[in-house]
Amino acid sequence: MGSEPLPSRLLRSLFLFFLLSLICGSQAEITVYHDNNQAAFTTAPGASYTGPHAYDPTSLTPPPLPTPTVLTTIPINLQNAGTPNLSIKQKGSFFGFSIEMSVTNQVLGKNSSLIQVPFLNLMANIVQRAGSVMVRVGGNTQESAKLVDDGVIKNGRVLTKDLTGVTGRTQTPPLEFSRDLLYMMRNVSGLVNVHWFLGIPWFVTQPFDLKIIPAATEILGDYLLGFQAGNEPDMYSIPSHGHRNSSYGPYDYLGEFSDLLTQIDATGSDPTGQGKSKLIGPNIANFAWTPEMVWDTGFVDQFNDNLAYLAVEKYPRDNCNATFGGPGAIVADPQTLLPLYLTHDAHTQLLQPYLNSTMYAQTKNKPFLMFETNTGSCGGFLGISDSFTATLWALDYALEMAHSNFSGAMFHLGGQNVFYNVGPTPSLPLPFSSLPLLFPASPFTSPPTNQSSFHQWTVGAIYYSALVMAEIIGPSNNTQVLNYGVAGLSSFTPIYGIYENGTPVRVAIMNYLDDPTGANDVHAIISIAGATMPSSVKVKYLAAKTVVQKGGYTWANQTFGGNFESDGRLMGTEEIQTVNCDTTAQTCTVDVPAPGFALVFLNDDAFTEDKGAPSMTFATTAYTKTHNTATVDPSVLSTSNGFRKADHPIGGTSKPPSAAPRTAQAPLIAVGVVIGTIVAMLGRAL
Ligand SMILES: *[C@@H]1O[C@H](CO)[C@@H](O)[C@H](O)[C@H]1NC(C)=O
Ligand SMILES: *[C@@H]1O[C@H](CO)[C@@H](O)[C@H](O)[C@H]1NC(C)=O
Ligand SMILES: *[C@@H]1O[C@H](CO)[C@@H](O)[C@H](O)[C@H]1NC(C)=O
Ligand SMILES: *[C@@H]1O[C@H](CO)[C@@H](O)[C@H](O)[C@H]1NC(C)=O
Ligand SMILES: *[C@@H]1O[C@H](CO)[C@@H](O)[C@H](O)[C@H]1NC(C)=O
Ligand SMILES: *[C@@H]1O[C@H](CO)[C@@H](O)[C@H](O)[C@H]1NC(C)=O
Ligand SMILES: *[C@@H]1O[C@H](CO)[C@@H](O)[C@H](O)[C@H]1NC(C)=O
Ligand SMILES: *[C@@H]1O[C@H](CO)[C@@H](O)[C@H](O)[C@H]1NC(C)=O
Ligand SMILES: *[C@@H]1O[C@H](CO)[C@@H](O)[C@H](O)[C@H]1NC(C)=O
Ligand SMILES: *[C@@H]1O[C@H](CO)[C@@H](O)[C@H](O)[C@H]1NC(C)=O
Repeated sequence: MGSEPLPSRLLRSLFLFFLLSLICGSQAEITVYHDNNQAAFTTAPGASYTGPHAYDPTSLTPPPLPTPTVLTTIPINLQNAGTPNLSIKQKGSFFGFSIEMSVTNQVLGKNSSLIQVPFLNLMANIVQRAGSVMVRVGGNTQESAKLVDDGVIKNGRVLTKDLTGVTGRTQTPPLEFSRDLLYMMRNVSGLVNVHWFLGIPWFVTQPFDLKIIPAATEILGDYLLGFQAGNEPDMYSIPSHGHRNSSYGPYDYLGEFSDLLTQIDATGSDPTGQGKSKLIGPNIANFAWTPEMVWDTGFVDQFNDNLAYLAVEKYPRDNCNATFGGPGAIVADPQTLLPLYLTHDAHTQLLQPYLNSTMYAQTKNKPFLMFETNTGSCGGFLGISDSFTATLWALDYALEMAHSNFSGAMFHLGGQNVFYNVGPTPSLPLPFSSLPLLFPASPFTSPPTNQSSFHQWTVGAIYYSALVMAEIIGPSNNTQVLNYGVAGLSSFTPIYGIYENGTPVRVAIMNYLDDPTGANDVHAIISIAGATMPSSVKVKYLAAKTVVQKGGYTWANQTFGGNFESDGRLMGTEEIQTVNCDTTAQTCTVDVPAPGFALVFLNDDAFTEDKGAPSMTFATTAYTKTHNTATVDPSVLSTSNGFRKADHPIGGTSKPPSAAPRTAQAPLIAVGVVIGTIVAMLGRAL
């Protein structure tokens, strides 16, 4: 790529833009949704886009610096070929998202004709860098979700949750969803290259509710990656969960998996055959069972034709007491936990129990996924999950998973007041109610209440990790990752070599330390045995003033701003540093602030070798301009925001309806806004 003359590309872009405008123009119902009698288009809140606001930067105190001091002048002696122990080949879509099924109507859109533009933009950012993105729709709420007939759910909604039990069900509130949820997902994929995971409800197995299989395979087709067979089955037998008795073990799960296949055949539920070949197991939380306990049942061999992926789910710790603990529960103190999120060793320890399984999965030729994870289950920790700490933590975690031969990891978005179908009723409000609807750990959050008419989305700390990871791996499908060991290296400065075809192309360097004096900046001295060092290298920085900063982080000087400031597109001018190398010593020295992260591009090909790679925008800035200016109508953007929570009290947030009458309509959604992005991508791909 890169050889076609620019004017011809621009013409092609414009042509496509008009084409797409025509197509979309003919589907007028997609564009605008009125907010009662308010004007459909209001003035764009331009003022909120001029730069980061003042944040409360210090809700927690950064951990003290280590004494004695650690190695900060670090030799990185790469070799041009023959490096041992590189990971399996990774895809740029490695870092995906997991969206709790009950909040999909806030995150993806209201229905198939009202899609959230910020969500599309957020996905488009990843696709631009990685080629595609993986999104899982599921979680605990998938386990009792029922696909109901068209027309059962009223008012154009795709899901409801019966909190009052008015339909006389004996069980705790099930989620009901319509086929339109699946159409909404399919429509998202038509605009940005999102591929989906779903789950088969597993609490009741006699009989299984199989309706999702024919519906999703038909509607999503190739955009369906797979169906989870059970979500954390090793937690089913916890007495308070009560879904299985205490003797429930891996062999019982194996039996249920077998029953599923039998029932699918008996009911003709898989007309395309896709369902039975795209199953995902065992999805355990490493709680009651180890992965080996499942492998040792012969699970993978027995269901070799059915298993598209093997998967586990793991959070480093939980914050469930804060929500579900009840009186007297011990709630963790984020300040105490903070240092545990600022060290590489936490990741190696968390992942150690899976290394045997990722090697095992390779022998069985199955990709191995981290299906659901985040800083902490039950919403994460205030001050950690919503700060730069989480950005660094999740990026290091994803890189270490890639190094450890996982094939992808889905970071979870919940929503405030998500009622899980288990355990005690949560105590409300949550400790972080100053940010309504915002689970601090969520990679991104749609705005709360009717503020949506002037506030936009909050792009959380972990979304930046996703964006940067997409760029680290890139779209070649051929990228290998190596956690680079250096004698004397501390746990505060992890380093990764990124390889294409066995040759180092990028270096990822993290600095978890927090020292504004500069005394703990990393000086990484990079050399490559067997290759001539270039005269300079390009570097992109992920930056914040301190690890406890909330919002306003920058990636190469661009940002999504602070709370409720984003439409899902990066703001600001991209800034790529050029670092001159020492051609005599054959080294390039890259500094990484404390805290910070640097991605070093070892050659220009690291930018330009693949279509869709971020380098394309470096090399062809006109495209960036087309993308950022020519095709975006700010008056449309100002209306492209979330839904009134009040409009769907029994929908996504699962907050019980209040006494007040709810008559307001959802605000405005315009699919057209993403067209610019799509055009830029198409133009590049053609
Ligand atoms: C490769 O990895 C294995 C397992 O982690 C380790 O024992 C071995 O020393 C590594 N080999 C090299 C050359 O680093
Ligand atoms: C990942 O898999 C590769 C290829 O099998 C292997 O060489 C490497 O040691 C593995 N890495 C880890 C951390 O297990
Ligand atoms: C989506 O919701 C809007 C507003 O409620 C409604 O007008 C429209 O018909 C719905 N679309 C679908 C496909 O249900
Ligand atoms: C969205 O989904 C509906 C089905 O509800 C379909 O009729 C429509 O064509 C889709 N729109 C786009 C843009 O794909
Ligand atoms: C546990 O459940 C299994 C399968 O349903 C059943 O066969 C077994 O008798 C149960 N055990 C107890 C102690 O209830
Ligand atoms: C690795 O997993 C395999 C398959 O379960 C098992 O047979 C083997 O004992 C495990 N090895 C270790 C060291 O745990
Ligand atoms: C939750 O609180 C209980 C006491 O009610 C305590 O035993 C438990 O350790 C706490 N869990 C966590 C993760 O802090
Ligand atoms: C938002 O809702 C509150 C309470 O219902 C109301 O007082 C306020 O005027 C609304 N604001 C807007 C901008 O609609
Ligand atoms: C990477 O793999 C995906 C399928 O997973 C494929 O659609 C895409 O074309 C591949 N990209 C390249 C550059 O080969
Ligand atoms: C960084 O971005 C800001 C806006 O966020 C812009 O004012 C500034 O010029 C940019 N810096 C460079 C060097 O481009």
